[in-house]
Amino acid sequence: MNSISYDIDSSHRDAASEAARLQVQATAGWTKEMRNLTGFGLRDGMAVLEVGCGPGYITEHLLKALPTSRITAIEIDAALAQQTADRLGSCDRLQIVHAALLDAELPDAGFDFAIARLVFQHLPDPVAAAVGILRMLKPGGKLVIVDSDDALWGLSDPEIPEMDAALQIYGHAQAAQGGNRRIGRALLRILEKAGFVNLDLEALLNHSDLLGLDALLPHLDPDRLLPLVAHGAMSGSTFAAFKASQMRFTEATAPLLMMLLLMACGEKPG
Ligand SMILES: C[S@@+](CC[C@H](N)C(=O)[O-])C[C@H]1O[C@@H](n2cnc3c(N)ncnc32)[C@H](O)[C@@H]1O
Repeated sequence: MNSISYDIDSSHRDAASEAARLQVQATAGWTKEMRNLTGFGLRDGMAVLEVGCGPGYITEHLLKALPTSRITAIEIDAALAQQTADRLGSCDRLQIVHAALLDAELPDAGFDFAIARLVFQHLPDPVAAAVGILRMLKPGGKLVIVDSDDALWGLSDPEIPEMDAALQIYGHAQAAQGGNRRIGRALLRILEKAGFVNLDLEALLNHSDLLGLDALLPHLDPDRLLPLVAHGAMSGSTFAAFKASQMRFTEATAPLLMMLLLMACGEKPG
């Protein structure tokens, strides 16, 4: 459970550009995401647990959107936990816990609402993780897992023909580390197996015509594939073909991108 397929230093081109991508990703669709979280029952004043806060961009949004809530953010990566602390640590409503989720020494039934965003796809045992979160929720408390599924990533117009092959290679590499880039379809079953009830699922759809292309473009940055080339998982020619198509896409007359995230919600019985 503690070995994860997310390592900001080695699985991405460089930590700074990955943090920048996460910032864009956290901010671009936040209004809609918060709308869905509110629809699932998130309210100001609740005690909120954020699992895998990374560099803390969602944490920052949550602190602003919930001005009287206490937020506890767990992060396994020391540098990312520190980055969040450096930026947000002065807020006395925020507790940052540097630990793996299942090792975090947090009390039973301490939270009204938990959010795990783009974390479950990196966990070798997602049901165990959900059970761990269930323990920390109050009866009636909710967990929302926000994650993706490569079969439903979205679309680009013009198309990038190499996208499917690139995602397949990416998926195999992440699976080899215990992750699952097709976890979106399984989120409801994970919640059910862990003991959650009153399950629900929403889509979070981001469109470049609403957000601007720059808000979504970092996800298509070909350089994100460079570590796969370096590890021999992707050939240089596949990378070059992807890069050429991505350039044709950005230089097209009116390129557009639609990207999908899934938000699954479950409630702790009782
Ligand atoms: C892709 S990042 C997403 C960060 C943030 N949730 C966001 O949406 O911007 C996934 C984060 O989960 C963290 N993580 C992965 N497994 C974890 C675990 N078992 N316990 C705590 N954090 C974990 C990673 O270190 C990483 O910071």
